[in-house]
Amino acid sequence: MPHTRVLRIDPLQPDEKVIGEAAEVIKAGGTVIFPTETVYGIGADALNSTAALKVFEAKQRPPDNPLIVHIARYEDLLKVAVDIPPEILSVIQVIWPGPITFVLRRNPKVPLETTGGLDTVAVRMPAHPVALKLIEASGTPIGAPSANLAGRPSPTRIDHVLEEMNDRVDLMIDAGPTFFGIESTVIDVTRKPPVLLRPGPFTVEEINKIIGNIVVPEEALGKREAEVPLSPGMKYRHYAPSTRLVMVNSSIFKEAVHYLQEKGIRVAVICTEQTCEGIDSTNKIVLGRRDNLYEVAKNLFDSLRRLDTLDVDLGIVESFPEHGIGLAIMNRLRKATGHTYMRDLKEVRRLTDN
Ligand code: TXA
Ligand code: MG
Repeated sequence: MPHTRVLRIDPLQPDEKVIGEAAEVIKAGGTVIFPTETVYGIGADALNSTAALKVFEAKQRPPDNPLIVHIARYEDLLKVAVDIPPEILSVIQVIWPGPITFVLRRNPKVPLETTGGLDTVAVRMPAHPVALKLIEASGTPIGAPSANLAGRPSPTRIDHVLEEMNDRVDLMIDAGPTFFGIESTVIDVTRKPPVLLRPGPFTVEEINKIIGNIVVPEEALGKREAEVPLSPGMKYRHYAPSTRLVMVNSSIFKEAVHYLQEKGIRVAVICTEQTCEGIDSTNKIVLGRRDNLYEVAKNLFDSLRRLDTLDVDLGIVESFPEHGIGLAIMNRLRKATGHTYMRDLKEVRRLTDN
């Protein structure tokens, strides 16, 4: 069976030869899976419509859900976006490189295939040495969504990528686990005031300090599905493990697990060290420490994938406070659980009543 070639690379001191080889693939209109500081991306030349379409095909993504365009130099911003308000431009220069994506007016040089037919374009400058060097060496902006099949959790390690993208792309670069483990914050600055489309590692609190107060719609928090999606990605199912997963308030987590176990349900628990303590289960997936939500974010998608390797009826994950990066964690969990969030034991009991 043919297998996509995987090149290993040091994340902090990338080997020029590996970068050069991957850049040749991008220049030739091919697809490369590469690391960013958030999650792995599947990239192709963002200015080449045929190349961009290969990305949609590889991850079975609907054609109306646009790619994020990745750049490595500020000058390249003008190649992909136009009419950037000066106050936004100065903010971008302070913030980048980093895990935040700006939706801007599209430069007609970016084909509509890349932007899913939209007249806006999402742009980001990733803060990962391998990503930056690859974009630079390719000499073109790289359009890249997360390197998972549509609907699956984003990959944060090369084994996640291999699980589903093997033989679907031309080359893969393995640089070990990604740094944040959760996708970039997306903010639409074509609107005034700007609107949050997806919470991420760059927090709303930080944005409010730098840009002024932005709009945070319920849909962006994942609290409900958008009827008229603010962002095409909002209307598609996300991060779903195959095993049924529910979220339970951390304050009643232990009692909930105990109750379900008593009822004979085979549960897997996904919880922090603190919440997991004292729970008697062979199916325990530990997210990290509750007092370090960056660690929880980093382990989140790996934990969702591990759930599917266990022979259980149900997964239960604990809830988190919705501030800082906790907002992004809760957004992903609300989607991964199909919005099943139990705040008290009455709701947990209802699970077994039918
Ligand atoms: O951290 C990240 O952002 C990763 C790495 C690889 O950079 N990429 C990523 O891309 O998460 P993706 O395609 O999985 O998520 C991009 C989101 C989608 O929900 C998409 O609908 C939205 O951004 N988006 C892209 N272009 C947009 C636009 N012009 N207007 C509104 N939303 C847009
Ligand atoms: Mg994605």
